[in-house]
Amino acid sequence: MAYTKGEAIKDDVIRESGIRVSATEDRGSRKRINRPSKKLQKPLISFASDNNAGVHPNILSAINSVNQGHVISYGDDIFTQSAVKKFEEHFGKDVEVYFVFNGTAANVLGLSAVVEPFNSVICSEVAHIDKDECCAPERFIGCKLVTIPTKDGKIRVEQIKEHIHSLGNQHRAQPKVISITQATELGTVYKPEEIKVIADFAHKNQLFLHMDGARLSNAAASLNVKLKQITADVGVDVLSFGGTKNGMMFGEAVIFFKRKLPENFKYIRKQGMQLASKMRFISAQFEALLSNNLWLKNAKHANEMARLLARKIEEVPDTKITQEVEANAVFAIVPPKYVSLLREKYFFYMWNREKSEVRWMASFDTTKEDVKKFVNVIEKTARSI
Ligand SMILES: Cc1ncc(COP(=O)(O)O)c(C=O)c1O
Repeated sequence: MAYTKGEAIKDDVIRESGIRVSATEDRGSRKRINRPSKKLQKPLISFASDNNAGVHPNILSAINSVNQGHVISYGDDIFTQSAVKKFEEHFGKDVEVYFVFNGTAANVLGLSAVVEPFNSVICSEVAHIDKDECCAPERFIGCKLVTIPTKDGKIRVEQIKEHIHSLGNQHRAQPKVISITQATELGTVYKPEEIKVIADFAHKNQLFLHMDGARLSNAAASLNVKLKQITADVGVDVLSFGGTKNGMMFGEAVIFFKRKLPENFKYIRKQGMQLASKMRFISAQFEALLSNNLWLKNAKHANEMARLLARKIEEVPDTKITQEVEANAVFAIVPPKYVSLLREKYFFYMWNREKSEVRWMASFDTTKEDVKKFVNVIEKTARSI
């Protein structure tokens, strides 16, 4: 598979941000100053990633609302306590919640709490932990990642089984964790019963079930279930819960579902350089995200926009949707000649260059108008060739 998420050329990066940085010589001070050029200050909707979106206004105002006075740092503050209560409302009382800055850290630190260096973590071949974390898991957990082929982003017990025969064999890495991603990297969604089958299998073999829930909200919105129903209720032990892709500025949570698990996690987080001193600014964001169903509204909307985009793309000649659109991603094969023309106007990632497969993503702030404009450009491109 030729995954190319990170292969944005310099010019792509400029288009992605919508801001062209021009170096201007300041003759007086002989300093070079970078200024956005006026021409490109208009923000663009890119369809590249939900990470490209801005911050939801409620989140920004939540940050602002806690920006008063002094409070104790490192999470010993009322805003963090209150945010943790919100997590208890959504995930159940029996949770331990720790905030970190980003998703890679949530995954790496969450996993490191439950493994030893001689263990292995079983995940799909497209798992973010394997493909997009620059070996951070291997480096910081010190474990082997064992990948399983997948066509739809999911892994299944039948495939996992063959990797646990090494349990008890001192020559082999000892499987300790099964890691699944919800929604998957291919925009599909595990049903609660599918997760439970994997969890039961994991527990029967004394393994933990880890879930990379960078887009858990999109999965819950898609299934029309509560966050708890696809995590605590079906046997997930360790969860990375995403905030950034669903309207936050930054911040993710590591959640443990059995209180006995995270004995040492506060030390792991600090040693992992993810203990925020001004924690209240992450906590306030989560409080807002988990209040008044903002998490659900944002995720539902992003999912709807992805489905709208997919429906429209299906009508464009020579294109083919390649994955079920169950969350906020659309995967499609698009003729290479369209791709290059399209990428002159919109930034997005190639998923598989050989197959000319692209990934488009909608986010909480994608509008119907954005989709319409994007599809018009695609249709125009198709007609012009
Ligand atoms: C499935 C998945 N997990 C985790 C992450 C979090 O990554 P980051 O470290 O960039 O916040 C991402 C971001 O793209 C992701 O897609």
